[in-house]
This record gives sequence, structure tokens and C-alpha cells, in this order.
Amino acid sequence: MPALVLLGAQWGDEGKGKATDLLGGSVDYVVRYQGGNNAGHTVVVGDQKYALHLLPSGILSPGCTPVIGNGVVVDPSVLFSELNGLNERGVDTSKLLISGNAHIITPYNVTVDKVTERFLGKRKIGTTGRGIGPTYADKINRVGIRVQDLYDESILMQKVEAALDGKNQLLTKVFNRRAIESEQVVEELLTYAEKLRPYVADTVLVLNKALEEDKVVLFEGGQGTLLDIDHGTYPFVTSSNPTAGGACTGSGVGPTKISRVIGILKAYTTRVGAGPFPTELFDEDGEALRRIGHERGVTTGRDRRCGWFDAVIARYATRVNGLTDFFLTKLDVLTGWEEIPVCVAYEIDGKRVEELPYSQTDFHHAKPIYETLPGWSEDITKAKTFADLPKNAQDYVKALEDMSGAPISAIGVGPGRDETIEINSFI
Ligand code: GDP
Ligand code: IMO
Ligand code: MG
Repeated sequence: MPALVLLGAQWGDEGKGKATDLLGGSVDYVVRYQGGNNAGHTVVVGDQKYALHLLPSGILSPGCTPVIGNGVVVDPSVLFSELNGLNERGVDTSKLLISGNAHIITPYNVTVDKVTERFLGKRKIGTTGRGIGPTYADKINRVGIRVQDLYDESILMQKVEAALDGKNQLLTKVFNRRAIESEQVVEELLTYAEKLRPYVADTVLVLNKALEEDKVVLFEGGQGTLLDIDHGTYPFVTSSNPTAGGACTGSGVGPTKISRVIGILKAYTTRVGAGPFPTELFDEDGEALRRIGHERGVTTGRDRRCGWFDAVIARYATRVNGLTDFFLTKLDVLTGWEEIPVCVAYEIDGKRVEELPYSQTDFHHAKPIYETLPGWSEDITKAKTFADLPKNAQDYVKALEDMSGAPISAIGVGPGRDETIEINSFI
């Protein structure tokens, strides 16, 4: 019953899409368990590039069943535009399964996301504006709309009315916007009901049965550990649990079934949106990382903030996720630097700190303590084995492994499926 979790070890955009796609050929199910179309997962297959937001990256592997689990929030308009886009490119999407318990991102959730951010002004989170936070808030407030609600019109109307009651007060009296009509929302949501029906399933049962039959299930995280609502840099986080525990709650598969937890780790660090980022660079090195690494958001088109590798964060990710392995990505981007600084600890109020501080105030004050490792100039994009890497690149990887607390089992040396050095097999 191999069940693997693959998740972001930093602030997202580590290369989860590529890693998932790489394993997609050897797994039976790929499951998204949290988040929604705030994710942007890029997969490069040959000369084709795909940007997936809501759909699991396994959708590109013909033998694999893609699953949207109960923990995901689904914007139906985005779902169908993504499915249509893939169909037009010849990708078969008919195997997709969607949990009837997944929550729906309604148009009013998107509106609330945008007006809340505008209202926060300088204190804004820098969300993707896709309605993620307000949809999870409705879920927790027990006024959410689930996929299954689309199949009972009177229940749907009651639920939309309940959700809009308070929101319309807020929209009209606080945000100075027009009220949203329940009828209009229900009408729009019902247009998706029949189109969605073929995909809706009891995904909890499907996945548990699959594991009983020794099928391989891969859980694909969105976002990353430091964006986790519980374990991330709150409040500058997303509104779900990308960390390993989220794979269980977001899919209905118990923790005893999980055999491997793989952290996707970029060889440097990036972040999109607001919030603390100790190793962030504001100089030419940061600009070069952004340029060479093509660090621009897949979802929002925003430039990503860039900085050196932060081993404190990697150790933290190992701990809170119980990582068994790392998949190190984008090592090729570091080619050409004479020396590469790596953050090994922080200085906080004059003291050396080895672990991520739990206090937000301390983390905001954390200054990186760097060790400098020698760089390499040889092209590494054709490397197939660890031994093919130049000595300094090997030493860089070994140093990161020693600092990060789990073995590095694969190394990305380019965006393509085959631009990967596999050290330990995952399945
Ligand atoms: P995700 O959100 O974690 O799936 O990551 P994104 O797709 O948002 O960002 C990662 C970017 O890096 C994508 O453009 C990938 O094609 C690219 N990428 C992934 N792995 C590698 C790698 O090893 N080397 C290089 N150069 N690019 C990579
Ligand atoms: P993938 O899966 C990077 C960030 C946003 C913002 C914060 C909250 O591609 O790694 P939200 O819209 O989720 O309420 O925004 O989280 N964020 C991401 N940053 N990669 C992502 O996804 C992200 N999804 C959300 O920029 O700071
Ligand atoms: Mg991304």
C-alpha cells in the first residue's frame, strides 16, 4: 500500500508539478488534498509546457487517475476552463474524480477575497485573489457550499442565503459594495451541476480501496510548508494545510497508510506575496536568481522574491512533515556563481538561533548567518547521475543534505521530466 505525499518544503513554487509528473507514470492515483487554483504547477513534457492550477499534475500521465480530494476548494469555472484547455491539447481528462465533499469557491468568495485585500491596504497578505481564504472561512464557519449541494436545489438556495446574509451586510455597510443576490448565485452554480456529475465520487472510498488493492497513491501538495495555516509564517500564509497531515484530512486516508513524505526543496529560496523572508536578496544576486530561474508566478504573473537557500527552513520542514526524502530542484540555476552563500542559522537580537523561532516577532527580526560554499561553472543540465555533477555541485548537495535532516533522493537539473538525477527510487 504505497501512499506517498509530495509537498512544498518552502514557500511554494519549489517544482512540485514537475516532481509529481515525473512520478505520474509509476502511480495509479494523484490526489490534490488542499488549496485550489491559487496553485500554479508547471509541467514540461518534451516541447510542451502545461500550467496546472486546480487539477493534479498526474492528469498528464495516461495511466493515472487524478483526484480532487475533500480538502480542496473548487472554482467550477476554473475547473472547466482548465479541462477544456487540456482537451484541446489532446489530453484525456475523463478519469478525473472530484470529492462530493469538496467546497466550492463561489463568486462571492472571490469578491470578498479582493475587497478584503483592498481594505487591508499596506497590511495585505498579497493573496492570489482566487477566493481561497473566504471559501475556507465559510467551511470553518459551517456556511460553505459543497459540490454535493449542487444536486439539491432547495438546500443549495438555503445554504447560499445563509452564506450571503452576513456577507451582504459587510459588503454594503463596510465595503460600500452592492449586495449579491442569492438567486443569481444559485442560478450560476446550477449551470455546473450536470457538467460536474460524471466526475463526482466518494473519493475516500475509492482511495482506501485502491490502497487495499496495493495500488500506488501520490498526494500532491499545493503551496508549501511555510504557507501552512498552522505551521507557516502566519498571518502571511494560505488558508489550508499543505503540510503532511493535510494529506490525511484532505483525502480521508489515515496516517498509518502513508509510507513516504517527500519534500520538494528549491536549491535557493523564493516567495510570492507579503511576509518575512530572512534570506531575501535585494541586490544583483537576487535579480540574477529571478532571471535565470524564471521566477515569475504561474498564477498571478507576479515576480517572485528570491534569496539564498535557508537550511533553518529546510530543517523545520523535515520536522513538521516527518519528511523521509527531499527532491532538490533547480540546482542548474546556481551554475555560474563563484561562491554560494547558504543560511545555516539566524541571529536574533544578538543570539545565534539554530531552529525556526515560534514567535512571529523573532522571525521578523531573524538575520541570516551564512556559510559560503564554492560554486561551479560547468553546465549540469545533462547530468544523469550524481557522479556526473562537478565536485563542487556534489559538495553543495551533500552540505544541504547534512543541514536539512533528510536524504536528497532526487535532483532537478532542468524543467523537463528527464532533467532529473534519481538517487534513491521513490516507489
Ligand atoms: P510548483 O508550484 O511547486 O509546481 O512550482 P512552479 O511550477 O510554480 O515553479 C517551478 C518552476 O521551475 C517551473 O517553471 C518549472 O518548470 C521549473 N522547474 C522545476 N524543476 C526545475 C529544475 O530542476 N530546473 C529548472 N531550471 N527549472 C525547474
Ligand atoms: P504553488 O502550489 C506560492 C501565497 C500567495 C499569498 C498567500 C495567500 O504554485 O506552490 P491565497 O490566495 O492562497 O490566500 O494567498 O499564499 N500562495 C502561493 N505562493 N505558490 C503557491 O502555490 C501559492 N499559493 C498561494 O502569494 O502570499
Ligand atoms: Mg507554483
